[in-house]
Amino acid sequence: MTATRNLAIMAALISLFAFNMSAFAAKVDCCIGHSSRPVPVGAITGYVHQESNEMCDIDAVIFYTVKRREICANPNAGWVKRNLKNLSKRLEQMSQKY
Ligand SMILES: *[C@@H]1O[C@H](CO)[C@@H](O)[C@H](O)[C@H]1NC(C)=O
Repeated sequence: MTATRNLAIMAALISLFAFNMSAFAAKVDCCIGHSSRPVPVGAITGYVHQESNEMCDIDAVIFYTVKRREICANPNAGWVKRNLKNLSKRLEQMSQKY
């Protein structure tokens, strides 16, 4: 009898573990931390804003670089704000050319 019970508890634990793993897999596209290294604005080709929600835990700015890397940045950091300002200015100037 106790053996069956232990088995049931084990099965429950395993399914809980499997659930956690799949939840983790769904998060691979999210920034889970902020890079502490500033990225020079000249190396940035674009960015997206990640908002914390059910999918992602933290607010972040994801910079795309010329080397096709994705850098997670802290939206409150000074260099990030400067880069975003510079980029939006650049986009403005680009759109005025056409
Ligand atoms: C953005 O940064 C680049 C490289 O530092 C600089 O040459 C350019 O003048 C800046 N543009 C704006 C609008 O601040």
